[in-house]
Amino acid sequence: MCGIVGIIGSSRISPRLIQSLLNLEYRGYDSCGLAILNNGVIDVRKDTGPVHQVAEQLRFSEMDGCAGIGHTRWATTGTVTRANAHPHLDNSGEFALVHNGIIANYRALRQKLQHAGHRFLSETDTEVLVHLLAHKYAETGILDEAIRRMCRELEGTFALAVISNHEPDRIFAARHESPLIVGIGTGENYIGSDFNAILDYTRNVIPIHDGELVILSRDSVSIRRLDTGEKIQREFVKLNWDPELSQKGGYPHYMLKEIHEQPNTVEAALTMDPEKLEAMCIKIQNARRVYLIGVGTTFYVALTAQYYFRRLTGRHCIALSSDEFEHVAEVDEHTLVIAFSQSGETYDTLHALRYAKNAGSHTAAIINVLGSSMVHEVEMVIMQQSGPEICVLSTKAAIAQIVIALRLALEVGKATGELSTHAFNDHLEQLNKLSTRVRRVINETKGFVNTIARETKKIRNWLFIGRGIYSAVAMESALKMKEVTYHHAEGIPGGFMKHGTIALIEDGFGSIFFLPPQSEANLYHHSIANAEEIKSRHGFIVGFGFGEPSDLFDHQIRLDDYDPLTAPILLLVLGQLFSYYSAVVLKRNVDRPRSLAKSVTVA
Ligand code: AGP
Repeated sequence: MCGIVGIIGSSRISPRLIQSLLNLEYRGYDSCGLAILNNGVIDVRKDTGPVHQVAEQLRFSEMDGCAGIGHTRWATTGTVTRANAHPHLDNSGEFALVHNGIIANYRALRQKLQHAGHRFLSETDTEVLVHLLAHKYAETGILDEAIRRMCRELEGTFALAVISNHEPDRIFAARHESPLIVGIGTGENYIGSDFNAILDYTRNVIPIHDGELVILSRDSVSIRRLDTGEKIQREFVKLNWDPELSQKGGYPHYMLKEIHEQPNTVEAALTMDPEKLEAMCIKIQNARRVYLIGVGTTFYVALTAQYYFRRLTGRHCIALSSDEFEHVAEVDEHTLVIAFSQSGETYDTLHALRYAKNAGSHTAAIINVLGSSMVHEVEMVIMQQSGPEICVLSTKAAIAQIVIALRLALEVGKATGELSTHAFNDHLEQLNKLSTRVRRVINETKGFVNTIARETKKIRNWLFIGRGIYSAVAMESALKMKEVTYHHAEGIPGGFMKHGTIALIEDGFGSIFFLPPQSEANLYHHSIANAEEIKSRHGFIVGFGFGEPSDLFDHQIRLDDYDPLTAPILLLVLGQLFSYYSAVVLKRNVDRPRSLAKSVTVA
């Protein structure tokens, strides 16, 4: 949802700014730009297109100067044009600004500024900010004061960074409900939307909170409150992410690399702090009502977790999509809301958490990105430790979240007596084998999945079908398929078929079944009955499941190393591989599908 970066040092920073833009490109990739201060003049170069192309065409690497800001855009206000790309300049060319977020009252501000004589060159809300800043600077002559005055007039969300020839040795940044971090280097300091902006240069990071202003020089960082200007002391945290994890490491796409990293992320998820596990378990037991929330993939994580909690603890913990939460959830002091979020920045989920908090509810989260907004907003956090997930599609982070939810459900089941010690130990043993099983699934099936993807590439409409917990697997797999292939895929519980959906089936219509092991007889037989109904209407069927193959399916993959508890997770891996190979066959932009951004920080 747009990436911002700023670097201030004592040598030419353009090569590092370009690298940061490349690392941030997954946040938005329709246009990009740089502004660098050189001898009192701000040089702005920007255009539509991918970073490598724009950087080459506009010769970013030849830009001189030691203080600069950059931006990768995911268009919200204003179409994808050069004029709408960031950075934006004021009319005097004395201020340049980049922004991530949405300014709700930009039209009113723009009108006021136009009356005051400001000329606008773009359709964006961001350009309003830089004119407003110039206006406030004319009143005060002090840049940090002007930024604070500007921010007071803004409604909406922002993370912004500013350079100006009035303060050539400083970069200014501010945050309200959009992510922002500071990186501390040696003789060089950084500002960025997330760690990927700075991971190549430093691991020492200070998370910036809402309502804060940052003033960076090459050897100092000052954080102040936006409202009062009061100074804030905050220590840096040391990031333990390996920069290599942010590289493709020989894989053609991040998506494939991240699918392959899943055995490790499963293991990392299981190394969660036992004290946290116990504390979260107590919170769940003490709550009268538990909601599990997320949006997109993390909603399907929550849905999967809902089945695990029911099975292992006997409790119905309600899965809700974060965007619908406030319209349906019952929130009070007896409610616990557990959010799942890779980025820790997703607007809908943050909004739902705040809504619950305001009503006195307890909040907790399972998050991947250290120092993200949600980490500060909830009472309790479990960090999933999956490392950077660069592909816009979530794979390894989602599986790690499911593993953590399953581990939590086991703990609660044991604590409440719903699970005997024997059953608990048995399940835990199976969970500890999961990483090995995931590795086997990837290594042993990817060739077959690739073949199925090639043979089905012409099917443009799919039903992904499952029952019980496998319906959540089917829905998440369908989302992956839509995101990356742009083919229509609808994930449904098998029970829906007779009640309408079966009308879609005709010659060659595609369906994929996510079949439980035969030991789950009820779910299995009902799933097979659905497959037969489709077959008798000449539909084309793929089966992902366990044990013996069946001649019902046109293509199938059957796994033989599984246990019933973690089996759904193995089929999720097959769903990921199928989407991946289908997208490759269709020559899609795998890591950056059209119209999407990794972290959706706007409403
Ligand atoms: C996943 O493939 C999606 N791109 C998307 O649905 C994502 O999971 C969702 O936006 C939630 O993001 P979060 O985990 O960062 O909160």
